[in-house]
Amino acid sequence: MSALVTGASRGLGAVMAVHLARAGHAVAVNYHAGAALADEVVASIRSAGGVAEAFGADVTDEAAVTDLVARVTASLGPVDVLVCNATGPQPAVPVEDLTWEDHLDQLRFFVKSPTLLLREVLPAMKERGRGRVIQIGSDMFERALPRSSAYVAAKGAQLGLTRSWARELGPHGITVNYVAPGWIPVERHEGASTAGYIAETPMSRQGVPDDIAAAVVYLASEAASFVTGTRLTVNGGHTID
Ligand SMILES: NC(=O)c1ccc[n+]([C@@H]2O[C@H](COP(=O)([O-])OP(=O)(O)OC[C@H]3O[C@@H](n4cnc5c(N)ncnc54)[C@H](O)[C@@H]3O)[C@@H](O)[C@H]2O)c1
Repeated sequence: MSALVTGASRGLGAVMAVHLARAGHAVAVNYHAGAALADEVVASIRSAGGVAEAFGADVTDEAAVTDLVARVTASLGPVDVLVCNATGPQPAVPVEDLTWEDHLDQLRFFVKSPTLLLREVLPAMKERGRGRVIQIGSDMFERALPRSSAYVAAKGAQLGLTRSWARELGPHGITVNYVAPGWIPVERHEGASTAGYIAETPMSRQGVPDDIAAAVVYLASEAASFVTGTRLTVNGGHTID
């Protein structure tokens, strides 16, 4: 059995892949662009004694997702843990300039891709009577910052999918949960100032990718077998009312 992490060549996904491998999962490290980075993630997992393999695929493309899941299954076994993590660019767009294409750009990653992936992994999960679907959402749905409405709306839609799928798939032993990271600086945030964000955060520190990966490992584990349809916010209390 395998754990498939989409967009795992860098950022949060790469660290999730490492933690899942450490927890004993055979990890499919998906990437779209950046084969060399994905290979580095795989090498670091293998050098620590884990099992991993890199799989290139655009997870917003239907034929590519079908092919991806077939290759992962053939190589590492049926997907037991699906982590929908990949994201494209998240541009700031003022509402005056917002287009339907802007919405589609976000919905492709946070609605279309999870739907395509779930459809492919579901038959084997149902057959085994067990599965874990983990959506990487965002606390931006709660924060609803300006100039981010397409991203915020798509992350809200992803939460809606999570809750509805959890009800539908619970009877099959499949849990579906949503991890909502706060701002966790990764490669693409290099040079950004974190002082203001830390000052607003009850835990008085910046979140790190390990914080998110730990939540994913928990939700993937047997210990979380009775946890479904939930949003696990990992942001040091930043959005406590
Ligand atoms: N980092 C944060 O502060 C933060 C906060 C809240 C939520 N999130 C969420 O966490 C997830 C990961 O974000 P990140 O910050 O690590 O992003 P990132 O940009 O560092 O990584 C995104 C990954 O997705 C891959 N990718 C892009 N297009 C793809 C495609 N078509 N098919 C397959 N893979 C593709 C990229 O190559 C990369 O590996 C996203 O869903 C994001 O919305 C991140």
